[in-house]
Amino acid sequence: MRGRFITFEGGEGAGKSTQVARLTETLRSQGIDVVRTREPGGSTGAEQIRDLVLNGAAERWSPMTETLLMYAARADHLERTIRPALAAGRWVLCDRFADSSRAYQGAGGGVDAAFIEQMDAAVVGADQPDLTLIFDLPVEIGLARALGRGDASEVRFESKGQAFHQRLREGFAAIAAAHPNRCRVVDAQGDPDVVFARVQAAIQPLLTAVAA
Ligand SMILES: Nc1ncnc2c1ncn2[C@@H]1O[C@H](COP(=O)(O)OP(=O)(O)OP(=O)(O)O)[C@@H](O)[C@H]1O
Ligand SMILES: [Mg+2]
Repeated sequence: MRGRFITFEGGEGAGKSTQVARLTETLRSQGIDVVRTREPGGSTGAEQIRDLVLNGAAERWSPMTETLLMYAARADHLERTIRPALAAGRWVLCDRFADSSRAYQGAGGGVDAAFIEQMDAAVVGADQPDLTLIFDLPVEIGLARALGRGDASEVRFESKGQAFHQRLREGFAAIAAAHPNRCRVVDAQGDPDVVFARVQAAIQPLLTAVAA
């Protein structure tokens, strides 16, 4: 049986990486074979593209160039990591995926949504996530959390300013509304235990489907 594909989305500092780690641990303790991965990245070549995209000056790449780089990385990630894992029956938990392109380069950067959907159809095709958790949080709280990490690497998008991040939040909300079967909005406020309880409730239908 094909594995399940769950993606974690949302703005800077929303708690995606924290919750991916927790869900990975919990599912493994239940005997599920989990591959935890991330975007941009998740394969050797895609991690090299990650370094290009997430570091350097905010205006280093135009939103169009970013879109092409992100989908190049995504193609490699799908070919070498995600598709083989799902085919082997493993569950894939991915920290960001295509909705981040829709939100960051589309809603945030102004790249034509129809162009992104054409690229998505060609690169991702039928391998859409079974479930996408969209972590939602006021922009200032997310940026404060991200800054609080005290890590000055990979901050290219963090440095883009408040208006950009507000467009991101609205972009993610619009994606959730447009794909109600695939997406669940998770309130990312509250302490990590409280947020994790929301994550577990959201993935419950996938676990029930496996047991049936
Ligand atoms: N529910 C929470 N409440 C308070 N702080 C949190 C919570 N979840 C995570 N954090 C902290 O906030 C910071 C950002 O969390 P995390 O790295 O998980 O976010 P992220 O969504 O992966 O961010 P990015 O988009 O930058 O990758 C970390 O220092 C983390 O420990
Ligand atoms: Mg993260």
